This record gives sequence, C-alpha cells and structure tokens, in this order.
Amino acid sequence: MDTRVLGCGPCDIDRAAGIIRAGGLVAFPTETVYGLGADALSAEAVARIFEAKGRPRFDPIIVHVASHKEAAMLWAEVPQLAWELMARFWPGPLTLVLPKSELVPGIVTAGLPTLAVRMPAHEVALELIRKSGCPIAAPSANRFGRPSPTRPEHVLDSLGGRIEAVLACGPTQVGIESTVLSLVEWPPRVLRPGGTPLEALREVVGELRVDPPRPGPGALPSPGTFPRHYVPQTPLFLLEKGAFKADEKLSRSRCGLLAFTGRWHGFAQVEQLSPSGDLREAAANFFAALHRLDAAELSAIVAEPVPEEGLGVAIMDRLRRAAAGRARLDEDLVWIRR
Ligand code: TXA
Ligand code: MG
Repeated sequence: MDTRVLGCGPCDIDRAAGIIRAGGLVAFPTETVYGLGADALSAEAVARIFEAKGRPRFDPIIVHVASHKEAAMLWAEVPQLAWELMARFWPGPLTLVLPKSELVPGIVTAGLPTLAVRMPAHEVALELIRKSGCPIAAPSANRFGRPSPTRPEHVLDSLGGRIEAVLACGPTQVGIESTVLSLVEWPPRVLRPGGTPLEALREVVGELRVDPPRPGPGALPSPGTFPRHYVPQTPLFLLEKGAFKADEKLSRSRCGLLAFTGRWHGFAQVEQLSPSGDLREAAANFFAALHRLDAAELSAIVAEPVPEEGLGVAIMDRLRRAAAGRARLDEDLVWIRR
C-alpha cells in the first residue's frame, strides 16, 4: 500500500476524514506525538491499528474526542471530578480513564471495563475528528515498543506502506505523550506520567497515587505500563548510579550522548535537549533527538538524567523504559569522564 502524504489544509483534512469514515488508518498530529487514527466505533477499523503497529491485543487504545460532551457519551458515568479536570486541562495532554459505555467496541479497551479518552490541543486533530463524524481511536503512530513519533518523517519511517495516509503538519509541540489518569479508584492513579505535570493535577485532584498498581485480586490491570518500551535499536544506557562496570570495548568515540544540559566531549554525536535547562524544551526535543541518535549507527547511546519535576518526570519515565534490561552506567566511572 502507498501511504499518502497529505498537508494540513481543509482539503487534506477532508480527504483524511473520508479515509477514517471508510474504515482506513490515518496518522495525524496532536500536541503530544503523532497518533495513528481509526474510527473508534468500528471494531474492524480498530483491529487494523493493532495489525499495522504490531501491537499486542491486550494493550488498550486511547479514544480522541473534539468536545467534553462527546467524551461523556463514551463513558458509562462521569463524576464531578472528571468534569472539573476536563474544564481545567482539555484540550490538552491529559487522558482520563473511566468505566466505558456500551457504544465502544471491546477491542478498543482490550476487553477492559474502562475507557481512556482525551481531547487533543491541536486544531488539525480536532478538525479531523469533527469531519470524520466519529471519535478517533489512536495510539502513538509507531511500531509497537519503539520511540514515539513527533514528526511526520518518524511516522513514515516506521509505518510507511502500512497505513493509508499521514497528515504531515510539522513537529509536535509538547513532544511527550499525555498523562494517563485513572478515576476508577480513589485516590486517582497516574498510570503514565506525561505532558500534564503531576504538580498541576494535584492542584485539582488533591491526593494522587503514582505507584504502579499491584497485580492481584481486585486490582485493575494497567496493561500499557511495560517496563521495556520506547526502545531504540541502539542499546541505550542511563547515567544513573548502578552496578554496571564499563565495557572496555565501548569507546566513547563510538557512542552517542543524549544530554540534558551537559557539555561532554569525545562522543561521536551529542544531542543536547535544552542548553538552558528548560524541561519543556527538553520534552519537545526528546523523541526527535533519540530518533537521530538511533539512526547514526552508533555502538551505544548514553543518556544523562533530567531533574524529576514538571515534565522531567515523564522524560525520566521514558528513559528508564528505553534503558530497561540494560545494565546502568555508574556516574562515577572514569570511563565517562576520560
Ligand atoms: O499523547 C498521547 O496519549 C498519544 C496521542 C496520539 O494521543 N497517544 C498514546 O497512545 O500515547 P499509546 O497507545 O501509545 O499509549 C496509551 C496508553 C497505554 O499505556 C495504554 O495501555 C493506556 O494508555 N491505556 C489506554 N486505555 C486504557 C485503559 N482503559 N486503562 C488503562 N490504561 C489504558
Ligand atoms: Mg505508544
């Protein structure tokens, strides 16, 4: 299949909406990352998302809406707190999880009784939803387990030939996926840190749980929190204190560095996320920098940690998952300072 590269004008969005209505797949921009969209009310269309991404069927998908009312129709019940959160944070990078209504096919939620919904802060995404005349189910537009796409090129590299079209509208603004908040338990639980900082959520919600739910009787599964995710092809090591002893054969001149503000020397390639130490700027640059390092045919990528506040919580979550299963480099190693 040829993947059509569309622009962002009204005719492009009309064409994309036609593809969605016909049960096809369109990648589109949101403020966080590019999404891979299909008609959320069509089980066949949603099944194609899982195939195109190589996504396991037990990982549920977020549904995107263009209004608060549309969200309310997809949920069985809407508590006062949900209305407050929508009023404060939508459109924006916050996904809310509540019991689903009968309208939504089970494949969207991977059989779970709950549904994740968000209203993206991107005019093209909102126009696409309105013109399609249906809510749009959309995971990030990348092959399963890989770093997320923040530019149309990333989408084409990973899904080109597997989807009908992409609305190519330049880089996304926030750069990191939405915060996923479950309201089916009390206190509400953050299932994934993301573009809406925890500090801002606490102002509305008060108490917030951030520890991953324990599997077991009564506990709702949180299927998308895979320990190993966002994994580049090149091995990635996080520069946190750890037991790792430097591999002598791994010379800095063959490694890339994903730096926050650091100015390290001797690396084959350095990507600085934010010279001034601005975590928003770092989040916006994060996935594109990771994609560039991954394409550079290096022996390894080493990543400098960022402060765990504001969007830094989401960045560190992605870095830990990208590095999971790899030994960690010890910060004190002479190897890195040599
Ligand atoms: O910013 C974003 O959220 C982007 C853009 C495209 O909207 N989407 C995105 O989707 O990141 P995806 O599929 O890559 O990640 C969705 C996350 C997964 O961790 C999934 O398991 C979780 O949300 N999720 C979806 N529905 C859920 C549910 N009913 N209960 C618990 N977790 C859910
Ligand atoms: Mg994803």
